[in-house]
Amino acid sequence: MFFRLTIDAFALTPGVAEVLKQVRDDRQMAKSRMEVLPGGLAAAPLHYADKGTPQVVIVEEEGDDAALLAGLDRLAEVCESGTRVLVIGEANDIRLYRTLMGRGVSEYMLRPVGARQILDALATLFAEPGAAPKGRVTACWGARGGAGSSTLAQNLAFELARFLREPVVYADLDLAFGTSVLAFNIDAKQTVADALAHPERLDEVLMERCMVDYDDHLKVLAAPGDCRSAGRIEVEAIDRMLELASRMAGTVVVDLPHQWCEWTDHLLSVADEVVITATPDLASLRDCKTLKEALLARRGSAGPRLVLNRMDAAKKTQLTAKDFEETIGLKPMLVIPYEPQLFGEAANNGQMIGEHSKAHRVAELFRQLAGQLAGKAPVVRKVETKKKGLMDMFRR
Ligand SMILES: Nc1ncnc2c1ncn2[C@@H]1O[C@H](COP(=O)(O)OP(=O)(O)O)[C@@H](O)[C@H]1O
Ligand SMILES: [Mg+2]
Repeated sequence: MFFRLTIDAFALTPGVAEVLKQVRDDRQMAKSRMEVLPGGLAAAPLHYADKGTPQVVIVEEEGDDAALLAGLDRLAEVCESGTRVLVIGEANDIRLYRTLMGRGVSEYMLRPVGARQILDALATLFAEPGAAPKGRVTACWGARGGAGSSTLAQNLAFELARFLREPVVYADLDLAFGTSVLAFNIDAKQTVADALAHPERLDEVLMERCMVDYDDHLKVLAAPGDCRSAGRIEVEAIDRMLELASRMAGTVVVDLPHQWCEWTDHLLSVADEVVITATPDLASLRDCKTLKEALLARRGSAGPRLVLNRMDAAKKTQLTAKDFEETIGLKPMLVIPYEPQLFGEAANNGQMIGEHSKAHRVAELFRQLAGQLAGKAPVVRKVETKKKGLMDMFRR
């Protein structure tokens, strides 16, 4: 089993430091990022005072039980939910072990500890599917420029966040001309360009810094939208960015520029879902066909999904959903009408459609789309209702 983990290990004694380095250099860890740091448990809370915690924190402690528990309390204050804590100590005491487990420590290991023992503990922790969950990546592609793919990607991400009530990342990869800063009306000091510039340096901390929290659940990785600052994008950088984003959020929506090159081709091949937005005309039909065929070789049966947009902008000449279904075998999952005023106003206000006109039928269409692409049922906020009635009296 190969791990794909981020781990910080704080060693106190030279022996444990040596063992942790063996863990780091083990073949099973080739795809992980592990750092061995000095200072033991006491150093960990300070280390995270101004940055996020990785998936696993390993700490060594030499002091008595009280010192250990106090140290763990300080660590708990800075630990993000989801981070697993492994403790290495020397108190061989079942009560202490139970206390530690009760406080959310994932594993307690006794000194002397071996590298194999630590790797086995990690394997047990991350063995069950879903233990280190990976987010779903949805790539949004416009059949032609201006089809409305970015608009769709932004509204989709927004509605997915509301639907799932869990972290969603929207990444605007149209570095040169992306509109995310305008569409969400945000101020992004750092952007996706900074994240992608040095893949070897990209980690969760830098990713966080490049993202803007739009609301409780939606994080926006905006594009600089400045063709002068847009450099070449490496496939390696895309992979690293996707890996981090899908670790940070259960859902990742990627907005692609209308540009066929190595990294866009790669991204369209590895994404869990590809959504093509097309306008109902002949050129779009041809491009959908080309793309569908190109993706068939790469994605097999997991073909792209189709959304028809700007329907009824040219009623007399437009193609229909049926034309798309019958000629290229892609049945549109959604048809969005041409609503220049609605989209224009929302764009001018820097708002999503669901914010600008919650009750509009287009807002409802985006909610439907989110429901279909979420891969799970909506999270409904529980409203505590106290039913008082005769039945209640009987229960009492
Ligand atoms: N259904 C629609 N009706 C009217 N205007 C739309 C519609 N969908 C998108 N637009 C507008 O079309 C323009 C181009 O959209 P955009 O999402 O940037 O396209 P793409 O990313 O495919 O190039 C934007 O001004 C957007 O507001
Ligand atoms: Mg676009």
